Amino acid sequence: MKQNIEALLQSAVDTLIQNGTLPADVSPRIQLDRPRDKSHGDFASNLAMMLAKPAKQNPRALAEAIIAALPKNDIIGKAEIAGPGFINFTVDRSQLIAQLEAAWSDARLGVPLAETPDIVVIDYSSPNLAKEMHVGHLRSTIIGDAVARTLQLQGHKVIAQNHVGDWGTQFGMLLAHMEDVQKEGASAELQLSDLETFYKAAKKRFDDEAGFADRARSLVVKLQSGDAHCKALWMQFIETSLAHCQEVYDRLNVQLKRSDVMAESAYNDDLANVVIDLEAKGLLVEDQGAKCVFLEEFKGKDDEPLPIIVQKKDGGYLYATTDLAAVRYRAGQLNATRVIYVVDARQSLHFQQIFTLSRKAGYASESTSLEHLGFGMVLGKDGRPYKSRDGGVTKLADLLDEAERRAADLIAAKSTDLSAQEQANVARVVGISSVKYADLSKNRTSDYVFDWDTMLSFEGNTAPYLLYAYTRVNSLFQKAGLTHDDVQGSIDLATEQDEALAAKLAQFPEIIATVGAKGMPHFLCGYLFELAGAFSSFYEACPILNSDDDALKQSRLKLAALTARTLQQGLALLGIETLEKM
Ligand code: ARG
Repeated sequence: MKQNIEALLQSAVDTLIQNGTLPADVSPRIQLDRPRDKSHGDFASNLAMMLAKPAKQNPRALAEAIIAALPKNDIIGKAEIAGPGFINFTVDRSQLIAQLEAAWSDARLGVPLAETPDIVVIDYSSPNLAKEMHVGHLRSTIIGDAVARTLQLQGHKVIAQNHVGDWGTQFGMLLAHMEDVQKEGASAELQLSDLETFYKAAKKRFDDEAGFADRARSLVVKLQSGDAHCKALWMQFIETSLAHCQEVYDRLNVQLKRSDVMAESAYNDDLANVVIDLEAKGLLVEDQGAKCVFLEEFKGKDDEPLPIIVQKKDGGYLYATTDLAAVRYRAGQLNATRVIYVVDARQSLHFQQIFTLSRKAGYASESTSLEHLGFGMVLGKDGRPYKSRDGGVTKLADLLDEAERRAADLIAAKSTDLSAQEQANVARVVGISSVKYADLSKNRTSDYVFDWDTMLSFEGNTAPYLLYAYTRVNSLFQKAGLTHDDVQGSIDLATEQDEALAAKLAQFPEIIATVGAKGMPHFLCGYLFELAGAFSSFYEACPILNSDDDALKQSRLKLAALTARTLQQGLALLGIETLEKM
C-alpha cells in the first residue's frame, strides 16, 4: 500500500517535471510517513515542502499541484493538504479491506517475496571461544537471529556465519594449562565444564608462574605450524567451548547451528595470500617492520592516515587480516550480494576500514553491499557495563537461569489453573523471552539499561505483555469453541475501533520491509506493541461474541484471528515462542 502510493507520487512528480512546474533536475526521495495522529490519515508526505525551494514555489500551492497530478487510482480515498504543506493520504477503505482479505488467505500474511532475492551473509554471535559466552554476546546473537529470520521470510537466501574467535595468543596459555591438567588425569570435559574458571586459572598461571608464559607462547607457535599434539589439545578445547555456545543458542531459540560456524582459524591458510595480494596491488607499506595499509579516508587526530596492520613484525597476522580474507570468501565464494556484520558499535572504525580496503583490493565489488549493524552496550542500573553481583562479567547461561527463576516466582504468585508442568514451561518462555525482548525492543544503536523489573512487567512494551495479549485473543476463540477456520464472511469496518485495528494490521508488510532493510528489530517490537494496544481498544469497545449481527461478529472474529496470527508471526521473527495459555 505504502509503496503503491509512493509510486503514484513519483509519477505525479514526473508529470510536473514534464509540464514545467518542477525543474528537470529534481529527483526527490519519496517516502511516506505514518502520522501519529489518526485524524491526519494513513500516510503523510512532506514532498511539497522538500520541493518548494528548488521549484521556487509556495509549498501549499505545490502540494495542490502534486495532488492534481496524481494519476487516477482506486487506492487513495482522500488526499488533503495540512499545515505548511504536508499531504495527508487516507487509503480507500475498500482497498484496506481487500489487502486484509488477501492477507487472511496468505500464510505469509501479505508479506511479499523479494522480486530479486539477495544472498545475504550474516555474521553474528561470533564469540571468542577462549571464554564462556557472557552478556556482551547477547545482543549480536539475538539481533542477528531476528534479522536473519526476517530476511528469510522475505525470501532472501540467508547464510549465517558464526565467525568465532578460536585462534590467537590466548590459546597458548589455555593449552599449556590443559596439558598439565590432563597429565594429572582429569578429563577435558570435566575441566572445561566451567570454562570461565578454567580461563581464570590459566590466566593466573600465565601472569604469576615462572616459565609458564614462555611455554604458552611456544605452544601457539607449535599450534600454528600444525603440530599434531597441540592441534588435538586445541580441538578438544574448541569442541567443548562450541558445545557450551550451542546450549545457549538452543535455550535462546536462535537458529544458529554447528554448521554455521566458520571460525577465524578457517581462514588461516588464506592469510599469507591476502598479504601477498595486497602487496601486488601496491596497497602495502612497511612500517617499523609491520605490513600496513594506510587509507586516506581514515585519519587520526594528527590528521595522518591510520594504519591497518595486516602482518606484525614477527610474522603474525591480525583480526583485520582475517576479516579481509572473510570478505573475499563471502563475496567471491558465497556470492553474497549483502554481507551484514552484527557486531559491537565500538568496532565501527575497524569495519569501515575493512570495507573500504576490500573495495580497493577488489574483494567485494560495488554490487555487494557491506553493512556493519553496530549495537550499544548492556548497562547496569548504575549506568556502567552490566556486571554480575560479584562484580565479574555475567555468564549468559547464568543470566538465563536467573530469568527463568524470576519468571517462575512471578507465575507462582499468580492464581492459575495450569499444571505444574505447564507452569514450568510458561516460566521458561516468559523468562527467556523477557530478556530477549527487552534487548530487541531497544534501538540497537544505543546502550540500554538491563532491568529485571521492567522487562518482566506485564505492562508496557514487554514480552509478558505481548505473550499475554496473544493468549487473550486465543481465549476469545476458545470461549466460543471456534477455530480460525470456522470464521466466515468478510471484513466490515463498522466502527472507528474496527478501522483502527484493520489499519494497524495492514501495516505489517511495511514493517517487515523496514526491519529487513535496516536490520532494526525494534521497529517490529514497537509495531507489535501498537497492534496489541489497538486490539485492546477494539476488544473493549466492540462486542464480538455477543454481537447479534452475525456478519459483524464474523468480521470481528476475522480481525481478531488476524491479530493473533500477526502477533505470532511477529514474535516468531524475534525468535520468541508464543504460549496458548498462561
Ligand atoms: N570475535 C569478535 C569479538 O568477540 C567478533 C567477531 C565479529 N565478526 C567479524 N567478522 N569480525 O569481538
